Amino acid sequence: MIVEGIAELIWERKWGKMMKVTVIHGQSHKGSTYNITQQIIDKISSENKQIDEYFMPKDGPDYCIGCYKCFNEGEEFCPQAERVQKIVKSIEESDIIIIDSPTYCYGMTGQLKTLLDHFGYMWLSHRPKGVMFNKVGIVISTAAGTGANRVTKSLSQQLFWLGVPKVLRYSKNVNASNWVEVPNKIKVSIERDTSTLSKKVEARVRNASPGFKLKFMFNMMRITQKLNKWNMLDKDYWRENGWLDRERPW
Ligand SMILES: Cc1cc2nc3c(=O)[nH]c(=O)nc-3n(C[C@H](O)[C@H](O)[C@H](O)COP(=O)(O)O)c2cc1C
Repeated sequence: MIVEGIAELIWERKWGKMMKVTVIHGQSHKGSTYNITQQIIDKISSENKQIDEYFMPKDGPDYCIGCYKCFNEGEEFCPQAERVQKIVKSIEESDIIIIDSPTYCYGMTGQLKTLLDHFGYMWLSHRPKGVMFNKVGIVISTAAGTGANRVTKSLSQQLFWLGVPKVLRYSKNVNASNWVEVPNKIKVSIERDTSTLSKKVEARVRNASPGFKLKFMFNMMRITQKLNKWNMLDKDYWRENGWLDRERPW
C-alpha cells in the first residue's frame, strides 16, 4: 500500500500532474494581497495541486532572539524549531514558493520578517539547501499608493539568498485599504496581470536553473567556506555535500 502510494507520487511528479505549492502569507487577513495571490494560484493549471498555506503570525514562529544556535549548533536547537521546521519542510517539498505581504511603511510586514529571519541559517553564506536550486518563487505585494515594488524586491532578495533560481515579482498599487474598495478598473488590470504571470510560472516550473548571478554568489561562498575556520558546522555541511569539491546543487 505504502509502496503503491510512493510510486504514484513519483509518477505524478515526473509527469507534471502533481504540483506542490507553499504559500507564505505575510498577514492573516484576506485583503487585496491575499486575493491576488489566490488568483495566481487558481490560474496555475495543474490537475493536481497541493497547496500548503501559512499565515503570519498565526502559523509562524516567535521572533528570533539572536541565540545563534541555528548557525552554530544546528537548526534543530532553535527555540522556535518546531514551527520553523514545519514550514521549511513544506518549502523543501514544493515546486513553487509564494510569499506575499501588504506594504507596511515601505516594507514587508513585521510578522513576515520574523519568519524570514529564522531562515538565515539556510542562506548561501551558511547551509543552503540543495533542493532550492530548481524552484520557482513568486513574490507579491500591494500598497495603497507606493512602496510595493520595494517589498517585492526585498522578498526576491530573500529567495535569492536561499538559492531559488527564478523569482517572479508582482507589485500593485491598489489605491485602497481593502479588497472591496479596490476600483474596478484596477481589478480588471489585476485579472489580466495574474493570467500573464501564471503562464510565466507554468513555463518555468521544473524548468528553472541558476543564472550567472546565483552561480557566481555560490562560488564566492564556496571560497569563503574553504577558508572557514569559524564555523565547522557550515564547513562540514559544504564538505559533506561535495560542494568544496566538484559537486554542485544544480
Ligand atoms: C501599517 C500600515 C502601513 C502601510 N504603509 C503603506 C505604505 O508605506 N505605502 C502605501 O502605499 N500603503 C501603505 N499601507 C496601505 C496598504 O499597503 C494597502 O492598503 C494594501 O493594499 C493593503 O493590503 P491588504 O488588503 O492585503 O491588507 C499601509 C497600511 C498599513 C495598515
